[in-house]
This record gives sequence, structure tokens and C-alpha cells, in this order.
Amino acid sequence: MASKQAEKKKDATGGKAARGTDGAERVFIFDTTLRDGEQSPGCSMNLEEKLQVAHVLEEMGVDVIEAGFPIASKGDFEAVQAVAAAVKASRVAGLARATRKDIDRAAEALKGAATPRIHTFISTSPLHMKFKLQMEPEDVHQAVVDSVGHARNLCDDVEWSPEDGTRTEHDFLCRCVESAIKAGAGTINIPDTVGYTIPEEFHALIAMLKNRVPNIDKAVISVHCHNDLGLGVANSLAAVQAGARQVECTVNGIGERAGNAAMEEVVMALRTRHDAMPYTTGVKTEMITKASRLVSTITGFSVQPNKAIVGANAFAHESGIHQDGMLKNAETYEIMTPESVGLSRSTLVMGKHSGRHAFKSKLEELGFSLNDNEIQDAFLRFKDLADAKKDVYDEDIIALVDDAVLRHNDRLRFVSLQVVCGSKGPQTAELEMEIDGAAKTAKAEGNGPVDATFAAISQLFPHTASLQLYQVHAVTEGTDAQAEVTVRLEEAGKTVNGQGADHDTLVASARAYINALNKLLVKREKTAPQVMSA
Ligand code: KIV
Ligand code: ZN
Repeated sequence: MASKQAEKKKDATGGKAARGTDGAERVFIFDTTLRDGEQSPGCSMNLEEKLQVAHVLEEMGVDVIEAGFPIASKGDFEAVQAVAAAVKASRVAGLARATRKDIDRAAEALKGAATPRIHTFISTSPLHMKFKLQMEPEDVHQAVVDSVGHARNLCDDVEWSPEDGTRTEHDFLCRCVESAIKAGAGTINIPDTVGYTIPEEFHALIAMLKNRVPNIDKAVISVHCHNDLGLGVANSLAAVQAGARQVECTVNGIGERAGNAAMEEVVMALRTRHDAMPYTTGVKTEMITKASRLVSTITGFSVQPNKAIVGANAFAHESGIHQDGMLKNAETYEIMTPESVGLSRSTLVMGKHSGRHAFKSKLEELGFSLNDNEIQDAFLRFKDLADAKKDVYDEDIIALVDDAVLRHNDRLRFVSLQVVCGSKGPQTAELEMEIDGAAKTAKAEGNGPVDATFAAISQLFPHTASLQLYQVHAVTEGTDAQAEVTVRLEEAGKTVNGQGADHDTLVASARAYINALNKLLVKREKTAPQVMSA
């Protein structure tokens, strides 16, 4: 029985070749942007947004998409259900604690998936067992056996994680891993939950498991590294070199606290340093930029300019010496090409004479795949912008499309804004909005034009949320640059970020505030589970 189960477990690792087309050993990419990523403070995605991200992840060749934590809320359950129904090429995973209720709920949400995976976990470190779970190690071990066994009865593909794995005693870790595999887990994921480990130590931990757990060859070893010390990617790669064959990661590295290992960094490190790490992934790296922008827009988490792979400066060469070298041979200062991550070198600038056709080609070149209505909406916004701004750059178009297209499910919509401002007060804002389809207008005074604008929004849509952050940044250079505004709101301990872009800073501010309120409405629908610590 045990060996039959083991054979089945091997299939459950993806049914995909363990080698890539180049013969190199395959590393499976398990993306948890929609689960661990969405747990970042201030980050929330509605169902439609989660589906958009899931489609891009599927298209880019991610092996497993962790779509959420079904027991956490009705919204999470429905999102996992929707992703499970929509995604066919990637496995879809749902997270569950080690209880029958959690596991049943995950199985229920994953019912429609072509290839479902239940990911169940329990803490195994002395600290977590004593203070968080208040359970004896023996009882935790029994919960491992019971939870994995129960999950395996409901789903062929089960992954098990010992939470706080890197601070777990080795003997106990080995015992739990062995029992989880015996009970039916096909993937054993070792989380560095608190981002505490360092590469050499993590390499040794994976090697230790490979040496000491007798049935370890019946499962795929996975790793899940948080980035509290900035070592998430380095630790993941060290683990791969020790024998891990699945890496859990998120787009742009979003996730709890300092985030998770960034998917784009793991994938590009394996691709660029294939000489030192002869492993391959199934990810189409040319889609990295598109995925990064989508996640950044939806979550409102901007990517720092110097962020590896996807930062605005990642392929920019400012100094004269570097530019000179680049002109002679790009390899002098470029270890990977911009094209390999989906950036084009084209600098085609658009202006008010550019037509719909050129605009459409530009959108395609930038990696957007929009339907006709979306293209039309974006084109109208582009025309307005081109009237106000001589040259429209790629960055402008990206900001504009993100703003125009990704908001079509919102309950609150910006329509127009007229502001009176200057040194002779009072500053006033006259705002028109649509709320659930009905047009509404308000006029408000404030301590400055931004305050007046936000007061007008509050008049039309009264709320108790408080403003935590108001940030403006110019998308390009020059005084006619578009403004991209981020607004952070907090209500009853829940934080959301909204973004808005426009060549008028106040309009961008109103759009950002309204976007944040829309996200808050989505958040309100969610109810917190009793103990949530993944
Ligand atoms: O960080 C963690 O330990 C987790 C587990 C649920 C894998 O997210
Ligand atoms: Zn995590």
C-alpha cells in the first residue's frame, strides 16, 4: 500500500518531465502571490483581479498557483474556486491548517480544478508548538499524520509544510517529514517562515533531510523563504543546489512582512547562471515584466526603482562610462538582455497624431492583451493625455492603461473634478462621481486642494477610514509629466493602497483615493479567521 501510494505521489508532482528540453533538471515554480502575497499588509485583490493575475501566471508557465486560503473568508473561498475553474495549464493549490474543517473547505473550493493540490501545514518549532499552538510535540505529530491522510483521501496531490521549519529541531523535523510522506504527501515544503536562515545553513538543512529521511525520494522537496534578512532568493537557490526541486515565491517578492523570495529573481538567476546552477524552470521569462506590472498595479505596491529584474532602473545605464561600454558591446554591463524579461529596447514616443492602430501596436509591444472595449477606453485616455503632453512615453501608457482598464468592476467611479486653488483661499473642489451606477456631485472646501478633493469624496461616500499615506510621483520627466498618486487608507485595522494616474495631480489624487475606497469595500466583505498565521 505504502509503495503504491508513493508511485501515485510521484505523479502528483506535476506529471511533467523532471527535466527541461535542454536535459537540465527541472525546478518547479510554485507561485503564492495570490495567497502569501495577498497577506501583505495593505495588499488586497478582488476576485476579478485575482483571476487576471492567475491567467498571467498560467500563461507564463508557472507550475503551481496557490490561489488562496479557502477557510479564511468567503472571498478567499470564492477566489480559489474561480481560479480553480479558470486555470487549466497550472496546478491550483489551496491552503489549509491541520484540521478537517480547513481541509474539507480547501477540497470543496478546489472541486472544479483540472489538477488540484491541497497544501496543509502545522507549526513544528518548539516556540510555535508551545506558544502558538499550545500543543505537545506528540499531538502535533499525530495532527500531521491525520491531516495529510485526510487531505490525501480528498485529493491525489497533497503538499505538507512544517511551519517555522528552519527553527524546528532536526530529529522532530525528520520524523514529521517521514510521517507526512507515509501518510500521502507528494511534496514536502520547508518554510523559512520568519526569514531567519542563511544560505549555508539552509543548504545543510535540505541535505540533512535528504540523508536522514528514509522515504524522502518519494516526495519533491520544496522551499518557501521569507525575506526578513533580504536572503529569500539566496536561501531558495542554496536549497535548490542541495536538492530542492520546487521553489515557492511571489511576483515582485510581495508577501508577509518583508515578503517572499521574488519569482523573477529566482527564475532569472537560474536562467542567467545556468553554468553554476544547471537547472531549468518552465517559466517564460519574457512575461516577467508584464506580470510584475500587473501585480504592482493591482496591489498598489510600487516596485522600487533599483529592484533586481523588474525595477525601472534594472536595465538603465546612466553613467557615461557605462553607456560607452554598452554601445560597444551590451555584454560589458548587461548580464541578461531586457528582452529576456519582456522589456523592449524600442523608444518609440507617441504623440497626439498617433492613431488607434499605432496605439494598439504599442499596447501589444508593452505586453498588454486588452479586449476591444478596453483598448477603446485606453485610447480615449491616451488622446486626452496627448493633448496635454507633447510626448507620451512607454511609462505614461503603462500608467494610463493600468488606471483606465483595471478598474472596470469598481463600485465607485471618478467622473470629473474642478478645483479652485492658490494662495487666496478658500480652496474648493467640485466633484462628480458614480456610486453603484448613479451620478452624484458634491462641492467641498478644504485646507488646500487635495484636502478639498478628499472632503468632496467623503461627502459623496461617507466613511470612517483614515488617511495613512499620500504619495505623488512623476511617471516621466518634465513639468507636463503624469502624476502617479498612492493613497493608503486604514479602517478597523485593515489597510489598503489605492493608485491613480493623470497629467493633473489632483485628478490623479481623486482617482487614487476612490481606488482605495473600492479596495476597502472588497476588504470589508472578508471576515478574519480565528487563528491565521500562515
Ligand atoms: O511562511 C510560511 O510558513 C507559510 C506556510 C503556510 C508555508 O506561508
Ligand atoms: Zn509564508
